[in-house]
Amino acid sequence: MSTTNICNHIAIIMDGNGRWAKKRGMPRTFGHKKGAENVVKITRSMKESGVKYLTLYAFSTENWQRSKDEVDALMQLLNEYLDKELKEIMENNVRIVFIGERYMLSDDIQKKMHFLEAESAKNSDLTLCIALSYGSRQEILSAVKNIARKVQNNQISIEDISQDTFSDELYTKDIPDPDILIRTSGEQRISNYLLWQIAYTELFFTDTLWPDFGKDELLDIIKKFTSRERRYGKN
Ligand code: IPE
Ligand code: IPE
Ligand code: MG
Repeated sequence: MSTTNICNHIAIIMDGNGRWAKKRGMPRTFGHKKGAENVVKITRSMKESGVKYLTLYAFSTENWQRSKDEVDALMQLLNEYLDKELKEIMENNVRIVFIGERYMLSDDIQKKMHFLEAESAKNSDLTLCIALSYGSRQEILSAVKNIARKVQNNQISIEDISQDTFSDELYTKDIPDPDILIRTSGEQRISNYLLWQIAYTELFFTDTLWPDFGKDELLDIIKKFTSRERRYGKN
C-alpha cells in the first residue's frame, strides 16, 4: 500500500558549527554566529513548506560543560538573537516557545524569552520551539516528579497515569511529536534530545554542517519523508 505522509513537525539537532569554523581556520564562535544566522533562514523556509512546528536544539544541558569562553560567546549570541527576533516573528506570524531548564539561564535572557513567548502567543503560521539548556532526561525526570507529587497529594491515582497524562507533564505538552528528526554534521546520535517524543519519528542524518544546511536540502528531506513507510509496529 502506498501512502503519502504529511509532515507537521520537524525537529533539528543543529550540529557542526565548530567544525564549520575550523575548516576555515576561524574560531568556533564564528561558526556559532553563522549557525545563528542559519536559524533565521531555515525558519523562513519553513513557511513555504507547510510544516506547522519546528523544534530546534540550540543548547543542551550538557553544553554548559564547554569552556567558559565558548559558553559566554553562545549566551551573547543568544541575547542578540532574542533582541532581533521579535520583529522577525511578528512579521512572519510565528509563535515562539522555549523548552529546557530555564533557571540555568541568566535573568536577562529568561525575561527576553518570556517576553517573546507572550508577544507571539497568538501567531499561527508556525510554532518555533527552541530547546535551550534542554536535556530530555531532565525533562522526563521533572515529569516523573510532578506526577509523583500529584499522586502524593491525592490529585490523581496511579491508575490514571497514562502515556497522555505523562506527555502532558513534559515541556512539549502543547506540541505534537516530531514527524522528522534531522541531525546535521554527520554524527548519528540523539544527544539527549526529545527521547520520549521521537518514539516513532523518522530519522534523517546528513553530513552537511549546520551553517551550510539550506532550504533545498530541507525540502529534499521532506520529499523523502513523504514516501517512507511508517508502520508503527503494524504489519
Ligand atoms: C552545534 O555545533 C551548536 C551547539 C552545540 C551549541 P557544535 O558547537 O557542537 O559544533 P561541532 O560539533 O563542535 O562541530
Ligand atoms: C547536540 O550537539 C546539542 C546541540 C546541537 C545543541 P553536541 O555537539 O553538543 O552533541 P555531542 O556532544 O556531539 O553528542
Ligand atoms: Mg557538536
